Amino acid sequence: MHKVILDVDTGIDDAIALIIALGAGEIELLGITTVSGNVHVEQSTRNTLRLLKFLGREEVKVYKGSSGPLDRPLVDASQIHGSNGLNGQLEDLEDYPGVQGDAIDFYKESFNRYPGEVTLVMTGPQTNLARLLREAPETASRIKAVIAMGGALRVPGNHTPLGEFNIMTDPMAAYENLHAGIENFTLISLDVTLKALIVEEDFDQIRNPALKEFLLRLLDRYMDRYETKNQVRAVPMHDPLTLLYLLNPGILKVEKHYLTVEFQSLFSDGHTICDYLGQYQRRPNAYVPVAIDRDAFKREFIKRLNQSGDVL
Ligand code: RIB
Ligand code: CA
Repeated sequence: MHKVILDVDTGIDDAIALIIALGAGEIELLGITTVSGNVHVEQSTRNTLRLLKFLGREEVKVYKGSSGPLDRPLVDASQIHGSNGLNGQLEDLEDYPGVQGDAIDFYKESFNRYPGEVTLVMTGPQTNLARLLREAPETASRIKAVIAMGGALRVPGNHTPLGEFNIMTDPMAAYENLHAGIENFTLISLDVTLKALIVEEDFDQIRNPALKEFLLRLLDRYMDRYETKNQVRAVPMHDPLTLLYLLNPGILKVEKHYLTVEFQSLFSDGHTICDYLGQYQRRPNAYVPVAIDRDAFKREFIKRLNQSGDVL
């Protein structure tokens, strides 16, 4: 069993990662924390609560987190995820549960109650973890593992030429988290998430018709964008791959290297710099993905969505 906290900026692919988490029998989901990223935290919190209501899982606890990056204004991704962050889905769901409290307080309570047992899976900007570690730096040694979607190591960024969106939104937070002494920190970067491609026909394998319909509605605009650029109706599943790595580590090959983030540059802010050759001669501080088994990813993705669909 994995004790997990899921930190999200729900968003389209965050929502799919959450659906997978809810159906994974080996995950004990302690709670979900929200952050500003794809959309403002008010909206990402609302989306998360509505999704839980839609899935009949109102018992899962949600804790609201940071409304913006540590040191700069929020630049959201509503142009990609839609103005409500879920491509307009679930807007009609008015009656949904409330938040249980503040994300940072929940982090402190959880990591202190279960020292060395909790894995933090982050699929948005890393602001909440940075704020926790500023307030309680001793917590770093009590976190079992961090698995975070973010970064562009040997590929171009998707938000700026060098910046991937999650890291680029709050690069100072990512920098501080990477240098806080967390022993087991894995960054799932665009290098592999862009290869975690799901094509529209793959959803024909989803058994639960209501889930299949919801996913296709959630993703149609995302796929339109991808098709315009790449002439195929497909979507890179950034956040689902991040969660699936916890459930099936064999999907990725990782290596430990020194990794840092630029956050004080005019043009390369948000650049994730991986020292593959040890040229800085600094202690490796993070695991980075160097290869993906694309077939294994796709099998696991469909299997896990059907597992979730069977219990909805
Ligand atoms: O760059 C991809 C990441 O940015 C994903 O987590 C997506 O949800 C957006 O937050
Ligand atoms: Ca996300």
